[in-house]
Amino acid sequence: MAREYDLKPAPAVGGADGTSTTATVNRRQFLRYGFNTATGVLAASLGVLGFASILLPPGGSTEGQLGVLFWAKGREDSAWYGSKHEEPMLKQDFVDEAAKSNTGTAGASGIWNGVPVIVTYVDHAKNAGTPESNGKARFQFTEGVDETGKTIGHFEDLSDVDPRLFPSENLVMIFGRCTHLCCIPGWQLVSNSFTDDTWTPGGGDDGGTKLFCICHSSRFDPTVLEMNTNRNRSNGATFNYAGIRKAGGPAPVGLPIIPIQLNGDSIEGLADYIDWYTYCD
Ligand code: FES
Repeated sequence: MAREYDLKPAPAVGGADGTSTTATVNRRQFLRYGFNTATGVLAASLGVLGFASILLPPGGSTEGQLGVLFWAKGREDSAWYGSKHEEPMLKQDFVDEAAKSNTGTAGASGIWNGVPVIVTYVDHAKNAGTPESNGKARFQFTEGVDETGKTIGHFEDLSDVDPRLFPSENLVMIFGRCTHLCCIPGWQLVSNSFTDDTWTPGGGDDGGTKLFCICHSSRFDPTVLEMNTNRNRSNGATFNYAGIRKAGGPAPVGLPIIPIQLNGDSIEGLADYIDWYTYCD
């Protein structure tokens, strides 16, 4: 029997009086209603070219679709960005939403050049100098480990080489496919103890602001940036990358960061690290 979760928001379910309710849906329903609809986009786009190839246009030009769009298919009436489905992601959208949050964070699913992404805003500039005990989220930059627990290096070993890996304007964008079996995580989609609107330092697995993969319950902390390692699914080659910490569940390592830039207020992804996304087909 499929494991069931209490999703929030609840897709296509309302109370008898028309008010929305928290619904219990299973994974199959989630895949139908949730952002995993993008998997169809990916499957249709890939053909025999392979996943990473869709990040760049034919010929290797750098003129890909750099702009990131909100993706709220199936949750247009419930996600905070539901009315912005397929519209460009703007920094101000996140700033406004984070201002309503106890932790000063906001997150949204998106699509970038056919690739599922998650963008998180953390009011780091405001909160970094305050006591951690106040529960206000800020980015932390740490050492990371491989799937055996062996330390492999520090986030800043990578960001020293390319400072664009640091969050830009309090924003960090993450490749949206789980390092376990390549499902597409969601931002606080599940109302359980991992998604309370709280923040704990250090990427601990207790408290909210986590990305949650509904497939087998892996959790990731977008506020903890570290070095990770993974391997190319096609040829087995290993690579290190800047990522966010795996906080719990069966995923072996964290999710890759996609460096971004702002074009005016629009969020754009930079296609410089396509090796980082090859752990999925
Ligand atoms: S695919 Fe994400 S936990 Fe299994």
